[in-house]
Amino acid sequence: MTGSQNSMPMSPFSQSCYASNMEMSSTLAVLMEAERLRAAGADLVDLGAGEPDFPTPANVKQAAERAIEENFTRYTATGGAVSLKRAILEMMERDFGAIYNLSELLVTAGGKQAIFNAMASLLNPGDEVLIPRPYWVTFPEITKFLRAVPVFIDTEERGFVLDADMVRDSITPRTKLLILNSPNNPTGRVIPPDEFRRIVEAAAERGVLVISDECYLQFVYPPGRPFTAGQLPDDLRRSVMVCGSFSKAYAMTGWRVGFALGREDWIQPMLKIQSHSTSNVTSISQRAAEEAAQGQQDSLKFMLQEYQKRRDWLIPALNRIQGIECLNPEGAFYAFPKITGLLGETVRNSTDFSRLLLEQALVVVTPGSSFGAEDYVRISYANSLEAIQRGVERISEAAAALNSRAA
Ligand SMILES: Cc1ncc(COP(=O)(O)O)c(C=O)c1O
Repeated sequence: MTGSQNSMPMSPFSQSCYASNMEMSSTLAVLMEAERLRAAGADLVDLGAGEPDFPTPANVKQAAERAIEENFTRYTATGGAVSLKRAILEMMERDFGAIYNLSELLVTAGGKQAIFNAMASLLNPGDEVLIPRPYWVTFPEITKFLRAVPVFIDTEERGFVLDADMVRDSITPRTKLLILNSPNNPTGRVIPPDEFRRIVEAAAERGVLVISDECYLQFVYPPGRPFTAGQLPDDLRRSVMVCGSFSKAYAMTGWRVGFALGREDWIQPMLKIQSHSTSNVTSISQRAAEEAAQGQQDSLKFMLQEYQKRRDWLIPALNRIQGIECLNPEGAFYAFPKITGLLGETVRNSTDFSRLLLEQALVVVTPGSSFGAEDYVRISYANSLEAIQRGVERISEAAAALNSRAA
């Protein structure tokens, strides 16, 4: 045997420039540790989840069963079965008064694929993408993957609500795209409809296109009302690609159905990308989504009422904890409290605090650093009120211990 046969061959694998440009989700480290503790039998309170705690409604599950029985199990059109597309268009008109036609709609594997396709079909290397901060972690990562440049707009001073002046001040000749996400993950804040229109006007005036991530569209609590970019006047709507999802509204995160609504000349290249990557969304999930869009909407109403009850309990309770301040979120199912009052020598930032909560209080929260906001944590109230109350009690005890150490 020669020496070269004895030694291990060099791995032919090295990451492409596209993959190495991306970072693994930073929320993952805390989640993996939480998983380890859970497997070891720890009594964790999970306030980290980014998905509904409710099961998928029964009528939706039954529609999927029927799809299997009826052998609706083959390829569909890449952009979605026509019956589902019609159901989505009807839902957007019925619930929001937003009227689109079939050629302006693409059915995607979750809202995430809608956003990915919209960005991939538009951006060239070096293009600037305006991303309000705090942001959903995927926006900058897709931007970097496409070798475009994320440009962050800090919204903290305005209570996390973006306005048109901030957008105007951030546009340069290289700006190609602005990403809006209202109701917002992680802050739960909602951009008022008038301001939303002014923001899109500010972008359109300078030839900047807009992605409106509306995955939490239905999650606006009274007296607020859901507002979609699909309700904008036609001349403004031409600048916007709406990215929607069945994941949160219908407790269907695992089914992977979302959609994009926008001008046909933007939808077409998105369809092209999808046709050479994932093709159609799972046929069975499409039938389930059709039922979600068209069937009875009682489950959605029930879930929204439950989320609101939890929010109404949670925010005042957080604000009673010394060292924590929390704005009232008008939507989504997240609270985003500021924890600066608890930071010091031992607990220096949101990651330290989240780790301390996990290890000492057995509560899972997501560090704000994951969203570009170091002095905050995200608390999801997609868990039972009882679990939320237990979690807050433990957070309160952990905070009291930190406060007494600092005193
Ligand atoms: C802001 C935001 N956009 C998009 C998504 C994507 O959701 P999905 O791909 O499940 O529709 C999520 C999921 O957490 C989200 O929080």
